[in-house]
Amino acid sequence: MRRSLFRRLVFIFLAITVTLTVTASIWLSRFFAGYFIEQKQKELLAQASWINALAEDYQAGRLSNPEFKKFIELIGYTSNARVYVVSVRSETVSELEARMPSGLIEQDLLREVEQVLRGETVQSRRFVSALDMPVVFVGTPLLSGEKVTGVILMLAPLTVIKDSLAAVNRVLWYSSLCIIAAAVVVIFAVSRRITRPIADMSRAAARIAGGDYTQAVAVPGRDEIAQLARSFNIMQKKLHEMENMRQELIASISHELRTPLSSIRGFVQAIREGVAKPEEQPHYLDLVLDETTRLIGLVNDLLELARIQAGAVQLIYANFDLAVLITEVKETFTLPATEKSLSLTAEVQPVPLWVNADRDRIKQVLLNLLSNAVRYADRGGTVHIEAKRGSGGAIISVTDTGSGVPSEELSRIFEKFHRLDRSRDSATGGTGLGLPIAKQLVALHGGSITAANRTDMPGLSVSFSIPENAGCLKEQDQAVKARR
Ligand SMILES: Nc1ncnc2c1ncn2[C@@H]1O[C@H](COP(=O)(O)OP(=O)(O)OP(=O)(O)O)[C@@H](O)[C@H]1O
Ligand SMILES: [Mg+2]
Repeated sequence: MRRSLFRRLVFIFLAITVTLTVTASIWLSRFFAGYFIEQKQKELLAQASWINALAEDYQAGRLSNPEFKKFIELIGYTSNARVYVVSVRSETVSELEARMPSGLIEQDLLREVEQVLRGETVQSRRFVSALDMPVVFVGTPLLSGEKVTGVILMLAPLTVIKDSLAAVNRVLWYSSLCIIAAAVVVIFAVSRRITRPIADMSRAAARIAGGDYTQAVAVPGRDEIAQLARSFNIMQKKLHEMENMRQELIASISHELRTPLSSIRGFVQAIREGVAKPEEQPHYLDLVLDETTRLIGLVNDLLELARIQAGAVQLIYANFDLAVLITEVKETFTLPATEKSLSLTAEVQPVPLWVNADRDRIKQVLLNLLSNAVRYADRGGTVHIEAKRGSGGAIISVTDTGSGVPSEELSRIFEKFHRLDRSRDSATGGTGLGLPIAKQLVALHGGSITAANRTDMPGLSVSFSIPENAGCLKEQDQAVKARR
C-alpha cells in the first residue's frame, strides 16, 4: 500500500511539473520566434524608408548611380538581406521581372508586388523557391512625392533568426531540465515525508493487532499527519490500558468465581463421600446455599455493570421526592442495623426534596452505599443519611462510624473488585462491585460521586450529586460518561 501511495504521489507531482515546464518552454520558444521575426520586419521597414530617402537624392541628382548602388549594397550587407530597388515607368509587373532573379516574382511574390505597386506596404514570412530558402519579406513602394515610381523588396533569410532562436531554445531547455531535476529531488523528499508516517502507522496498527502495544509512532512536525500520529499514539496507549484492564478484570472475575465454587465443591464432596456427619449436613447445605446466592449476586452485578458500560441501560426520568425514597431505603436496613445495634438516622432539607431522575437507579445507589455503611460501621455506631439542595442539584451523603478508608485508597474503592481487606471477603460477603455500580449509575445521571473520611471521628462519608437538569442530558452523553 505504502509503495503504491508513494509512487502515485511521485507520478502525479512529476507529471504536473514536467507538463508545466514543457508547456512554458514551448510557449516561450514560440513567443521568441514571433518576436525575432517582428523585430526583423521592423528593421527592414526602417531600412526601406532610408532607401526611399536615398532614392529621392539620387533622382534629384545629389547622388551618383554608383554611390546609390553602393549605399543599397551596404544596407543589404548590414541588415543581412537581399535588397531589390526597381523603378518602373508604368505600374506593370512584366516590366519588373526582367531585372529580378528569374522566377522570384513570377513564382513567389506576384501578389505582394502587385499590392506594393498599388502603394501598399507588405510584410510576410514565407518560403521563396527561387532562392530556395525561407525568408522574412518586406515590400514597400518607391515613392516620388505621392507617385509610385517603383518597388523596394527586401528578403532576409530566416536562418539568421533561426540561429538566435536556437540559442534561446537551448537556454530554455537547459533551464527546464534543471527545474525538473530539482523538482524530482523535492518531490521524492516530500512524498517520502508524507508516506513514511502513514507506513509507520500501518505497521504499528499491524503490531497492535498482533497484541504488541509497546512501540509508539514518531511524530514529525506539526501538520495533519503529525496530528494523526499523535492521535494514533494516544489511541494505542488507551488500547493498551484497556487491554490491561480487560486482563485484570478476567483475572479478578476468575478469582472471585473460583473461591466460592471450590468451597461449594468441598462441602458437596464432604456430604457425598460421607465425611460430613448426617447432623452436620444441613449446616453444610446452608453454606452451599449461601455461596450460590453470593455467586448469583456477583454474576448479576457483573451483568449490570456490563450493561451500563455498553450503554444498554436507558434511564427512565421522573420527578420524585427524595425524602420519601430515603425513608423507604432506611426501612430496608432496619433489621440489619438493629442486629449491629446501629442507630440509623436521616435528614432531608427541604422536605419535599424534588429531583428529576430514574427513581429505581437512585434507589440502587442508596442501597449500595447504605449496605456498605451498615456493613463497615462498628457495632453500636451510627449511620446517617443526609440530602440537601446544593448548587445545581441535590446532594446526598451517607456517613458512618466505621474505620474509614486510608486516604490513598479513597479513589480506588470505586474500581471493580477493589476491597480493603480481602481476607474479610467471606465473613462480610462483599465482592467489590457495589461502589463501581453506584459510580456508573450516578455518572449516567450526569452527577459525580466521592468518598471522604470524616474529620471529626473515624468513619467514611460517601456523597453523590443528582444534577438539576439530569433529565435533559442527551442519551449519548450519558453513555459516554458511563463508559469513562
Ligand atoms: N463505608 C465504608 N467504610 C469502610 N470501608 C468501605 C466503606 N464502603 C466501602 N468500603 C471499602 O470499599 C470496598 C469496595 O466497596 P464496594 O461496595 O464496592 O464493595 P463491597 O462492599 O466489598 O462488595 P459489594 O458491595 O459488591 O457487596 C469495600 O470492600 C470496603 O473495603
Ligand atoms: Mg458494597
